[in-house]
Amino acid sequence: MNIAVVGTGYVGLVSGVCFAEMGNEVTCVDIDARKVESLRDGRLTIYEPGLEVYFDRGRRENRLRFTTDLAEALAPADVVFLALPTPPAEDGSADLQYVLGVADDIGELLAAHPDWGYKVLVDKSTVPVGTARRVTAAVGAYGLEAGKHFDVVSNPEFLREGVAVDDFMKPERVVVGTDSERAAELMTRLYEPFVRSGNPILVMDEASAEMTKYAANAMLATKITFMNEVANLCDRVGADVDKVRRGIGTDSRIGPKFLYAGIGFGGSCFPKDVQALHRTAREEGYSFEILDAVLRVNDEQRKSMVPHIVDALGDNDGRLDGKTIAVWGLAFKPHTDDVREAPAHVLIREFVGLGADVVAFDPEAVETTRAAFEREPLGGTGSLSYAETAYDAAAGADALVVATEWPEFRRPDLARVRQSMAGDGAPLVFDGRNVFDPKHMAGLGFTYRSVGRPS
Ligand code: UGA
Repeated sequence: MNIAVVGTGYVGLVSGVCFAEMGNEVTCVDIDARKVESLRDGRLTIYEPGLEVYFDRGRRENRLRFTTDLAEALAPADVVFLALPTPPAEDGSADLQYVLGVADDIGELLAAHPDWGYKVLVDKSTVPVGTARRVTAAVGAYGLEAGKHFDVVSNPEFLREGVAVDDFMKPERVVVGTDSERAAELMTRLYEPFVRSGNPILVMDEASAEMTKYAANAMLATKITFMNEVANLCDRVGADVDKVRRGIGTDSRIGPKFLYAGIGFGGSCFPKDVQALHRTAREEGYSFEILDAVLRVNDEQRKSMVPHIVDALGDNDGRLDGKTIAVWGLAFKPHTDDVREAPAHVLIREFVGLGADVVAFDPEAVETTRAAFEREPLGGTGSLSYAETAYDAAAGADALVVATEWPEFRRPDLARVRQSMAGDGAPLVFDGRNVFDPKHMAGLGFTYRSVGRPS
């Protein structure tokens, strides 16, 4: 099949590369000429394990192309994916200017070139319920008829960063939202090779497909938040959230996944999507109470270790001037350089605000962190610097904070870490991802605190 992917962000690029790997002819379009040039030259613009092999192959065999020219991609395409940013607007709703802007461009081009034939336009970005209808209207405004000249399909993406290639190539389900049989048939043909294991392609109406995406992310964010609250209570009653997790996760109605307590969720999806769904509900005159709680609890959770650090290291005014805090992990989760809404960034902002000097290490996310703090500078009197290794970060620090559970943080030489940290007493370790064993840490001579587990 011939496919156009408009937008080469995370979802667009992974989709384009993976569709090409499945033998389709793919042209990816972006208005950012520098990005397109880099991709043309064979330089990937995101870090995602496993993507490079398919990217190289697609380019080499000329199935995967990049352009800034929408018309060039649109003319031969059977299916056009819109994978455009939908940033949160001031009021928490999803900003649709990019999606609707491109829909408008497509309408104009299709109206001017009737010989290009019928196209299926696919909303791949996470967009509010009702967007497919608005895209249909935007294209239809050029005198084009849905069902005859084009159809719009909602096909939400469920891939996770860090395992995006695997998630895309072997999805647990594919959701296709459309009332058009012709579009559903085309989409089914496109996706069949991805679900050869028997996983379902679920065809439904557009609104239900759009809702499915939000409901999935909101449910997952709620699940994590619920466990974080259980952990906070475990701390108070002397229970161990890890044991509770196993205790409840064996109930098949609950399931073992996404039950890991920690310093909250981050990323470009959960916070934004929970907010957007909450907002949609409000617009419909419905108050989605649980989502309000999820957002509030998560905000608190990301900062939850700050008072403990101030208790241990702060002066009489509750400040951390002159103290050095090592932070292991900057990305919002392992295996990505993405730092959007990263709990580590929230913590660093707090620490530096209180006067601490933070020395951070992350295997992939230092550059993205630098860029983020250039865009939104840190306030306060403290400082932020970066270390070459996890050990370098910890050396001389008054406290060590684990903010992201990169595999390399799980089994470091902790005796070496302990020796290199400041002070003669038991150095402080705040483990925001429960990667270490409390007994082992105490045995090594650390003062250790994790989330929802007795020290
Ligand atoms: C999430 C969803 O998992 C994907 O299905 C969805 O497609 C994607 O959003 C999206 O909408 O694009 P992602 O944001 O890449 O994927 O990351 P997750 O692996 O879901 O992790 C999100 C956050 O939850 C991370 O900060 C992680 O540390 C945290 N988390 C996850 C926990 O605190 N505990 C857990 O048990 C699991």
